[in-house]
Amino acid sequence: MRVCKLFYTDTHNRLQLSQEEKNFVNCQSGLPFDDTLFDTDGESPRPETYGEVTSLGARQLFRQLGLTAEATQNEHPEYQFFDLGSGGGRLVIQAHLEMPSVLKSVGVELSHSRHKAATSMWGKLRESGDARRIRASAEESWGLRSVDPVVELHEGDLYSLDISEATHIYVSSLCFSEDMLERLVEKIELEGGRLKVLASLRLLPLRKKDGRQSIRRLGRKPWTEFIEMSWTKGSGDGCPVYFYKAEATN
Ligand SMILES: C[S@@+](CC[C@H](N)C(=O)[O-])C[C@H]1O[C@@H](n2cnc3c(N)ncnc32)[C@H](O)[C@@H]1O
Repeated sequence: MRVCKLFYTDTHNRLQLSQEEKNFVNCQSGLPFDDTLFDTDGESPRPETYGEVTSLGARQLFRQLGLTAEATQNEHPEYQFFDLGSGGGRLVIQAHLEMPSVLKSVGVELSHSRHKAATSMWGKLRESGDARRIRASAEESWGLRSVDPVVELHEGDLYSLDISEATHIYVSSLCFSEDMLERLVEKIELEGGRLKVLASLRLLPLRKKDGRQSIRRLGRKPWTEFIEMSWTKGSGDGCPVYFYKAEATN
């Protein structure tokens, strides 16, 4: 519960955007401007809309992705977890703190202010020594020692990030357009050479045929799990998340 205290005493206000930044995120995310995507009351979610995986939801997610101690028994995994659209960075940091199977935890976020909130929180955890202490205690309980685990928080567009080393990816794709989802699938199948499992809030438009240059193929039979999110917590529900296994094409 330590991680909850560290993260969730913070208010959500810091993660809300100014109108100027909302416009930037909506345009840069790749979502084509299309009135039909939104309700007439303007309340439908858009790419800048904020919601996140709770700390309990993160643990449910890590289990399904196969990052936990049970899933990695008798192995010495050196996984790389990527959160594409990492917001305030909590998921990236929790993966680092609680999952010794994750050697590198990476986030990419389009919004400058959310990226800043993420780097500031990570800076405080490192400087206070909390990050090292929590990671060390997780490693001890797993009986695992990792050399120089890394957290990377990038500011930028997820479509420009190098994902070639990612073994596990989460994408909070709820507000993505069909076009963005198609580009995501293409990027993953062309570039995600080490990918094992991908989790997405939306079902992905898988390509009918494998493209000639594809190095990875996302499984045609995703499984679904209900994971706690900030917007489902009040009702005690979870949000459906789709999990895809990735396999080499040759
Ligand atoms: C719903 S939040 C999810 C935060 C975090 N991944 C979690 O689930 O706890 C989605 C984030 O994706 C960001 N985003 C949207 N389009 C993006 C893009 N093309 N590249 C990077 N980030 C993007 C938004 O700014 C927002 O902060």
